[in-house]
Order: sequence, then C-alpha cells, then structure tokens
Amino acid sequence: MNFTDWIKESAFNKRSNIVFSLDLTCYPPRNSIKRFYRKVCTLLKKVLPNVCAVKIGWPTMIPLTFYGKGKLVIEMIHEHDTPVIFDAKITDVKHTNEKVIEHLINAGIDAVTAMPTIGIEDALDMVSEKLRKHGKGLIIVSHMSHSGARLVFGTFFKEFLEIAVKLNADGVVIGATYPKKLKEASEILPDSVKIYAVGIGAQGGSIEQAITNGADYLIIGRAIYESKYPDRASLKLRNIAIKFVKALS
Ligand code: XMP
Repeated sequence: MNFTDWIKESAFNKRSNIVFSLDLTCYPPRNSIKRFYRKVCTLLKKVLPNVCAVKIGWPTMIPLTFYGKGKLVIEMIHEHDTPVIFDAKITDVKHTNEKVIEHLINAGIDAVTAMPTIGIEDALDMVSEKLRKHGKGLIIVSHMSHSGARLVFGTFFKEFLEIAVKLNADGVVIGATYPKKLKEASEILPDSVKIYAVGIGAQGGSIEQAITNGADYLIIGRAIYESKYPDRASLKLRNIAIKFVKALS
C-alpha cells in the first residue's frame, strides 16, 4: 500500500488525523542511549493508539542513528500499523539528496519532507521519482510556521504549491499559524495533495481554525511529548480534532 492510502486507512482505523511529531532528544555520552531508546518506546506505546502517523525529526533520529537504535523505533511504529514520516526537509543537490533518500528508503521510512526552494529540475524531480518508485510519500514544505517564514514562503507560496501539484506530491506542510494560507491552499490544491498543518499548540495554531481552513492532518509534537501524560494529551487532542473533521476516509 502506498503512503497516502496507508495514512488515510490509519486515520480511519484510529479515528484520528493527528500526526505525532517525535522530536524528543538526548545527548550521549552525557545521557545513556539505552535509557533514551526505552523512553522513546514507552512514549510511543502511549501515543500510538491516538495518532495516524509519526513524524520523526532530526533531534530524535540523530542520537538514535549515530548510536544504533533508529531502525528498531521505525519497526516498532510499523508493528502498530502506523506509517513513519521522516522530517528530513531535503534541500541539497541531486547526488547528495539521492544518497539520503536511498538510506531513508532502506531504513523503512514511508514518507519524507522536502523543501520547494531547491526547485524541480535536477532536484525534486529525482527525489519524487525515487520515492514514488518505492511507494513512498513526498511532502513539500509550502509555508513554514514561524514569523520569519513570511519573507520567502509568503512571496513564493503559490509557486511552492504549484511545485507540489506538478510533482503530484502526497502533501504539503503549512503553518497553522497562517490560517489564510491554509485556506488558500485548500482552494488551489487537488484533493490528492493533502494539507498537513504544523504549529498547533506550542506555536499558537488552533486545531479548529486549522481544520476549518482546510487542513487534512495535524502535526503535533510538544503538546504531546512534553505533557506529563502523553496518552491523555494525545487522546484529548484527537477528540478535539474529530469534532471538526468532516470525514476521515
Ligand atoms: P511542535 O512541538 O511545535 O512540533 O508541535 C512541530 C513539528 O513540526 C516541525 N515544524 C515544521 N515543519 N514546516 C515544517 O515542515 C514548518 O513550518 C514547521 N514548523 C514546525 C518542527 O520541527 C516540529 O518537528
């Protein structure tokens, strides 16, 4: 099953459009990697029933890969029939991107984020082709969530959406902190290009506003993993989101 179908099925089965953003980190040798790995697994066990996918970022993957447990975490998420997005934000030249993508595919990643600023020719075309060949997803970062995003992402927003459409990407990431951009994207994009909203909770974006402005999936990190009770926090967010989602399938 390709990535888009898998995340859709997972959202339907779990009644959740929340993508858990796993950015927990540790600093070996000061911190024990064994203890960190156990902490990640415990956290995932609590959160996985309430989320449709997990987005893993560099803060978690750097210690896990450099010290050895990265693939086990990916396998554990897969055992819960849940896809894994790697927030690589691919942004290099062709031959370097090619090596990174090859590693991510071999490691079992199901979808990858990439920056539209590198353009299609000699860059995203290869990334997209390689991922598609293996049934993996491509998610284009079309408008970041922080205030400095206005300069580049505000100026080239429409062009970045066009890139996602031309590549037939599986989705775009847009800051929930820019609800008008979510709305604009939902009016322009075909249904096949899903909208992933980031910046909910800790960065100030609202679940209701994100969904009513067109977000299909909500990427949420700190509001879950920094909570004393990540199981209750993820369930609560899922229950809030479900009130506004029209259909999960
Ligand atoms: P929090 O803790 O703020 O985590 O819920 C959000 C996650 O999303 C990443 N992030 C972004 N990713 N475009 C992206 O592709 C963005 O504009 C953006 N803003 C935040 C962040 O790194 C974290 O993993």
